[in-house]
Amino acid sequence: KLYPVILSGGSGSRLWPLSRAHYPKQLLPLSGENTMLQDTALRVSDPARYHAPLIIANNEHRFIVAEQLQQADVSPRAIVLEPLGRNTAPAVTVAALMLQREDPDAIMVLLPSDHVVGDLRAFSSAVDSAGAAARAGKLVTFGITPRHPETGYGYIKQGEGLEALNGAFSVAGFVEKPDLPTAQSYLSAGNYLWNSGMFVLPAQVYLDEIGRLAPEILKQSNLALEKSFRDLDFVRLDEPAFAACPSDSIDYAVMEHTGNAAVVPADIGWNDVGAWPALWDIAEKDDHGNVSAGDNLLRDVANSYIRGEDDRLIAAVGLQDMIVVSTDDALMIAPKDRAAEVKDLVESLKSSD
Ligand code: GDD
Ligand code: MG
Repeated sequence: KLYPVILSGGSGSRLWPLSRAHYPKQLLPLSGENTMLQDTALRVSDPARYHAPLIIANNEHRFIVAEQLQQADVSPRAIVLEPLGRNTAPAVTVAALMLQREDPDAIMVLLPSDHVVGDLRAFSSAVDSAGAAARAGKLVTFGITPRHPETGYGYIKQGEGLEALNGAFSVAGFVEKPDLPTAQSYLSAGNYLWNSGMFVLPAQVYLDEIGRLAPEILKQSNLALEKSFRDLDFVRLDEPAFAACPSDSIDYAVMEHTGNAAVVPADIGWNDVGAWPALWDIAEKDDHGNVSAGDNLLRDVANSYIRGEDDRLIAAVGLQDMIVVSTDDALMIAPKDRAAEVKDLVESLKSSD
């Protein structure tokens, strides 16, 4: 059985004003009734295939995270609390250290808490292929057929099929967040896949690699765990030790450099819902191509996403390809193709949280 590890540390600032530092996107019901964290945990809840999940979250979110898991009837193995964010590599290192102590052969299924997976059956079979490759010592990524030259993703150059491992390929190269011309050249080359951000990793192989490639991260994560204390489900990492840990992502620290990577191409209805236009993309639209929550008053509005919280009425005339999101204390309006810029806009205004 595999050990799910769910990362819940990001802030999702491109989904402002709904997503806030105090209430980031994975803790919101963005695309259905469940929050994205709940959907993620439920995706790997079949006890025949998975152990109870390990959740890694920021200390500030501990009560919301615990409550949402309980509501979804998920009993976590533990909720590891980071006193501050150090990006994904230290979080994964702490998880690998914890699991490897209990089970030296532990295989982790590492999942971001803020992605949508539309096809659960395809997801399960991709995890099966990845699990087999991980048992053979590979750090396994899931490759998504790229749809546009996105610069916020990692790109995987697909190599040869791996012998005796159905559905898994070697990785001929991994480049995290390339610039636009590079992303464009990958798209036209045709043999590159997006890194989904989900991984299947043998804990021991990951620890060997992080120790080789980023020894300070291994050392400080280990120290933060050694000095942690457990309080019910919560494992509180030691603040001074974790604060002294370098901040880096698993993609930059490990995946760009390891020779042990494999990729399972996966057509699973994946979407990382990075910004408002992605929510328009995945939602059901009306006859005019609009996604409009509530009883909004729309005239000559097309291909737009209109969302008001509570019972606020939004009246709009003559909009095309627009995003309008209204909450109690903030209103965001942008054309779809520029809506991601809200991230920079609100970063200059951190006090808005
Ligand atoms: N616990 C914890 N601590 N989780 C974190 C932290 C942290 O400090 N920082 C980020 N996370 C969580 C986020 O909540 C998210 O679920 C996941 O880890 C990935 O972090 P992102 O910050 O969203 O990464 P990214 O989107 O820039 O890039 C990654 O995902 C892309 C696909 O969406 C990379 O893996 C790319 O290669 C990939 O293409
Ligand atoms: Mg992300």
